[in-house]
Amino acid sequence: MTESQKALLRSLLERALIQNPKDTQTLAALFYQRLFTVAPGVRPLFSNKLSLQEAKFTQMLESLLSNLDRLDNLVPVLWQSGRNHKLYGAEEAHYAVVGEALLYALEAKLGAEHITDEVRAAWKAFYDLVALIMQEAAKEA
Ligand code: HEM
Repeated sequence: MTESQKALLRSLLERALIQNPKDTQTLAALFYQRLFTVAPGVRPLFSNKLSLQEAKFTQMLESLLSNLDRLDNLVPVLWQSGRNHKLYGAEEAHYAVVGEALLYALEAKLGAEHITDEVRAAWKAFYDLVALIMQEAAKEA
């Protein structure tokens, strides 16, 4: 990821994670709604109360965001998370669906005009990296 891609993602995710009074839905809620619409088969894998899961997911995004300049720091966390995800029943093919659902949620939250080609490319560079580490860990688990 280039420095300008990191800056772009940071500002995008910061805005998307802020809950304005006029917003009816959080980014995480939009994300899970979309995920379960496009991939209803994964719904039974989630046993946690969805509000709890949304909080965990948001925390993870915030932590990724604040560590964009030190992605090395995140490798052990992502590796462990990839192993855990195998136990949850996540399959390799699900990662693309999750990445798409997150991009969809970002668009729903911020407006399509904010999801430029540059944003898409930065998102892809970031998400592919995170997913790759988690998928590799799952393979070795
Ligand atoms: C980059 C991608 C992903 C991120 C950042 C992420 C993040 C998280 C986090 C933070 C948790 C909370 C528990 C933990 O930390 O282990 C979690 C749980 C979970 N995730 Fe993911 N996840 C990702 C991809 C996926 C994919 C592809 C699936 C496939 C369906 C999935 C399914 C689940 C399930 C089933 C749980 C457990 C929920 C429960 O016990 O109710 N996740 N995820």
